[in-house]
Amino acid sequence: MGKTVLVVGQGGREHTLAWKLASSPEVERLFAAPGNAGIAEVAQCVPIAAHDVEGLRRFARDNAVDLTVVGPEAPLIAGLVDALEADGLLAFGPSARAARLEGSKVFSKQLMRAYGVPTADFAVFDRLEPAAAYVREHMEVQGKSLVVKADGLAAGKGVVVAHSSAEALDALQEMMVRRVFGDAGVRVVLEECLVGEEVSVFALVDGERVVPLAAAQDHKRVFDMDQGPNTGGMGAYSPAPVYTPELQQRVLEEILQPTAAAMVREGCPYRGVLYAGLMVTAEGPKVLEFNARFGDPETQVVIPLMSSDLFEALYAVAGGRLHEVQVSFLDAAAVCVVLASQGYPGEYRRGLPIEGLRDLSDDILVFHAGTRWQDSQLVTDGGRVLGVVSRAATIRQAVERVYAEIPKIRFEGMHYRRDIARRALER
Ligand code: AMP
Ligand code: GLY
Repeated sequence: MGKTVLVVGQGGREHTLAWKLASSPEVERLFAAPGNAGIAEVAQCVPIAAHDVEGLRRFARDNAVDLTVVGPEAPLIAGLVDALEADGLLAFGPSARAARLEGSKVFSKQLMRAYGVPTADFAVFDRLEPAAAYVREHMEVQGKSLVVKADGLAAGKGVVVAHSSAEALDALQEMMVRRVFGDAGVRVVLEECLVGEEVSVFALVDGERVVPLAAAQDHKRVFDMDQGPNTGGMGAYSPAPVYTPELQQRVLEEILQPTAAAMVREGCPYRGVLYAGLMVTAEGPKVLEFNARFGDPETQVVIPLMSSDLFEALYAVAGGRLHEVQVSFLDAAAVCVVLASQGYPGEYRRGLPIEGLRDLSDDILVFHAGTRWQDSQLVTDGGRVLGVVSRAATIRQAVERVYAEIPKIRFEGMHYRRDIARRALER
């Protein structure tokens, strides 16, 4: 019988997941909560917020949802998967205890240290004075750079790469004293600054079993040449040339499998997608952070390259049957360029008309991040508005195609980076 699936979330990542799930012959009914205007083209959107655990649980139960696919981290950390499972419902995503890999940097760093998973050297502090003394010793005396990280979730703003002790001390003051991230900053991690190329690696994990998906590179800064403040991500490409077959094997053996095994040993087996943010250093790959979900906008390039069925894979993970599925990818490349609102990642306006999507060539995919319908007009409804994706034989062709098509799209104040995937092309 055809399956009923619920996608939780409302961004470009969730549009991509919903688009791919909708193409599965096994999926009969697809819901999204709350979704966006693009998701509404492939799923029935229901007005339940992604953080409304009780509302989602009730909806899944009342509609006999066979699989709930959780996009963002907050509901995972809040225990949505635990709540669904308590009702006998299957969900794709880790339990709250397993989602601590993302929800607590102290937990993930200590796990990595205990199990020998390569990561930056670090120390944990819950009081300002010893943390400040550590900063003075390492930065002023030894002349090193340090990274200051709030323990908990801080909307992507809880990491400060400090090049001076003043910067690091300031970050400590903000997190530990002024509590700008609330309880998330009560504890901090101070870690060694790693140098190298970053790559986002995704793998399906079902207890001890690990099936690598693909790797991608993100572009976090808002402006070209990695200038300006950090954003949720302004573009991505896959595959990542830095991620060679040898490196993949090393990451599987030194990072992904040991982490999955460690979680089992710790009594909180991980089920879902494990996103490892890595730095490829001169000494080899090291973990910058783990996330308990798919990346955004990395999903917009990884999933369109997947040639096997996504529903089957996610359903198998949720059911603890990952060994039963084969996952395969096209031998091709994908590039995503995010079109953002003027002012993003700061203040921006919403409700501006979007034009031109109908004029795009058929080889282009558009995943909506922040859009909605207002009367019969598609309008902006977020900082990141659209992800424009090209799939082609090579990254170079995908870059050319995506940038040739973007000028057809218009909304007031639209801005985007012109250098997505440049690093891959320069290699
Ligand atoms: P995170 O939110 O942990 O991914 O950190 C945000 C960004 O900070 C990462 O994508 C890296 O660019 C940078 N970062 C985090 N940890 C380190 C580190 N130990 N060394 C250098 N850069 C880092
Ligand atoms: N693109 C970065 C993230 O999803 O966290």
